Amino acid sequence: MSNHPADGPKPTAVAAGSTTSTPTVLHSRCEVLSSRELGAYHSLTLVAPEIAEASRPGQFVEIAVPEGRDILLRRPFSIHQASRRGGWAGTLEVVFDAIGPGTSWLAEAKAHDVLDVIGPLGRPFSYPHDLTSCLLVGGGYGAAPLYFLAEELRARNKLPHLVLGARDHDRVFKPIEGKRLASSIVIATEDGSLGLRGRVTDVLEDALERTAAQVVYACGPNPMLRAIAELCRSRGVPCQVSVEERMACGLGVCWTCVVPVLASDGGGWWNVRACVEGPVFNAARVWWDRWLGEPGTSETAMPPRGAAGRREGVVEAGRP
Ligand SMILES: Cc1cc2nc3c(=O)[nH]c(=O)nc-3n(C[C@H](O)[C@H](O)[C@H](O)COP(=O)(O)OP(=O)(O)OC[C@H]3O[C@@H](n4cnc5c(N)ncnc54)[C@H](O)[C@@H]3O)c2cc1C
Ligand code: FES
Repeated sequence: MSNHPADGPKPTAVAAGSTTSTPTVLHSRCEVLSSRELGAYHSLTLVAPEIAEASRPGQFVEIAVPEGRDILLRRPFSIHQASRRGGWAGTLEVVFDAIGPGTSWLAEAKAHDVLDVIGPLGRPFSYPHDLTSCLLVGGGYGAAPLYFLAEELRARNKLPHLVLGARDHDRVFKPIEGKRLASSIVIATEDGSLGLRGRVTDVLEDALERTAAQVVYACGPNPMLRAIAELCRSRGVPCQVSVEERMACGLGVCWTCVVPVLASDGGGWWNVRACVEGPVFNAARVWWDRWLGEPGTSETAMPPRGAAGRREGVVEAGRP
């Protein structure tokens, strides 16, 4: 990995989303402050004062992998922490699973390497005005942005309760920090190696009751988000999900990242870009069956009548 001077050029503004009024994002060369293993994941902390200052929970950054390799596209990662005050002010932390060439290359990054970063991107979670009890549900590394969110909720006198799920104990995201941060925490692992045996969806109903949750925030694998959305819809609890879709540009230009979203009056649907209009969506508005296929099949289906949309008047595809 090549080194560049850490005090390189000042960040430049990049126009995100050509068709909507999206806030300007920054393009910066960021020094790696630290790189470490975190259970099954890797954590990178970057010196990025301007991006950290502008970041909100639920937003993400896109990190370039080096020129001269066979990887053209930047890789998107949720912002786990954006430190804007204190000893390490001006830093950003991302946590990732090394599953392919881009993330494996990033896992080799060392302190003082310099990475090319664009951000903050996308729409953040919204904070509740009047509601107090918030249930944050994270699957695997999907829990990463929820820690940033929990801190911001606490700063607003809300009560963040946490449900963490993962395949095994190594993939449970920062359980000790979760205990410190959250008003209550439940952990579920599929193999039972930490907390309860099962999936987050197995413990969610109980957690909703116990915490009297008034709003749910979720991030993790898309099928998990769909199950959470369904449960929240049936119980009338508002839910925001941060989704993952394949992204090419991350800036709203290529339309590779579209998610079908139902109109608020149920009269139609639109393909919207996860990188600009998302990645955080109102879970009741995502047309899950069309996006992910009917549960257990690869087929898509029409939206449910009376759920968040109706079949009549569906627009085949359009722009918001
Ligand atoms: C908004 C957003 C936030 C994300 N946040 C994180 C994070 O905090 N931590 C983390 O580990 N990963 C995160 N991801 C996923 C991450 O971007 C991909 O894992 C990464 O781009 C894979 O790159 P690669 O070159 O290592 O593997 P590739 O060879 O590109 O892909 C390896 C495997 O991962 C799948 N994959 C690739 N990109 C995505 C994607 N965008 N979504 C889902 N699956 C994908 C591929 O289908 C393939 O099976 C996020 C994705 C998005 C869209
Ligand atoms: S429009 Fe290019 S990734 Fe979203």
